[in-house]
Amino acid sequence: MPRTDIDWASLGFGFSDVNCHIRAVWKDGKWGPLEFVKDPYITMHIGASCLHYGQECFEGIKAFRQKSGRVVIFRPGENARRMYRTAVRCVMPPVPEEMFIEALDRIVAANEEFVPPYGTGGSLYLRPLLIGTGPQIGVAPAKEYTFLVMVMPVGAYYKGGLKPVRAVILDDWDRAAPHGMGDVKVGGNYAASLFAHEKAKHDGWPVELYLDAKEHKYVEEFSTSNFLGITKDGKYVTPDSCSVLPSVTNLSLREAAEDLGMTVERRPIPYEEIRDFVAVAALGTAVVITPVWEITRGSDVIRISAADEVHPTLLKLYQTVQGIQYGEIPDTRGWCHEVKI
Ligand SMILES: Cc1ncc(COP(=O)(O)O)c(C=O)c1O
Repeated sequence: MPRTDIDWASLGFGFSDVNCHIRAVWKDGKWGPLEFVKDPYITMHIGASCLHYGQECFEGIKAFRQKSGRVVIFRPGENARRMYRTAVRCVMPPVPEEMFIEALDRIVAANEEFVPPYGTGGSLYLRPLLIGTGPQIGVAPAKEYTFLVMVMPVGAYYKGGLKPVRAVILDDWDRAAPHGMGDVKVGGNYAASLFAHEKAKHDGWPVELYLDAKEHKYVEEFSTSNFLGITKDGKYVTPDSCSVLPSVTNLSLREAAEDLGMTVERRPIPYEEIRDFVAVAALGTAVVITPVWEITRGSDVIRISAADEVHPTLLKLYQTVQGIQYGEIPDTRGWCHEVKI
């Protein structure tokens, strides 16, 4: 049962203390057992490869308490496979999918009282992390790694309805190069975007949109979310690029869009095409869909909609995915993984 001493309505998106996290160590060529750890601190060698050479990757996943009372994790296999690909790219030992899912199941069950009650719009945010913890001073992969999953309850992002935001393109900074690391979830990508992100925020834009690093001609993605455009004839259009993170939310929304009879296109989107979209949105686990009503690039301001307008297609897609997450709509594609409590 959810804790009664937490003010679920005022929860934001941040760290909070829970019962424990779960950890395993890889050394001598194999993974050790998963173990619960109460202490939220970690001790490692000062020469650890995650500190010096960025051998680090993570995931972001949510668990929901559904209408029926069941606790489910949304599409954990997708995140397991993305973290596997990321680990391979960074020459880290991948966490096998079964071990990844077992870690999620056990840590959610151990912190069940922190899964927000149904109806509050909250969820339990799960943050798997894989880091090189062995000392490595010459540039090379470490010989020891730690995998852990920490969890925290987070509140509803939208307390009322969907709230559109303004975005900015800052041509002086790129996030990820073609054939670089943009398609995997490493901490370095976020370090690369922080300066532009802080600048955008300081100047009044909550999110920044990146164009392709080679030509600055095509739309890539926002700093922590994928790009969606809806065309005048109702198509779902999202960039196809080797430097964009394959988002689980975008995948789910594409599948939901197809189920709703929409045409889905994954293809290069020239910057100029943004003017033709009737709706634009940022897509990611944290919020599912954030409508974007205006995009600024230098003196060029593209107004997509009124500041408070949410296109009915965005609303329908949002309600569909959220409805499945909270068990209000039948989960015909088997997206929800039940945790045995
Ligand atoms: C760069 C980037 N793109 C897209 C996403 C959205 O991915 P997902 O839907 O898997 O959360 C995220 C968030 O994880 C992200 O950090």
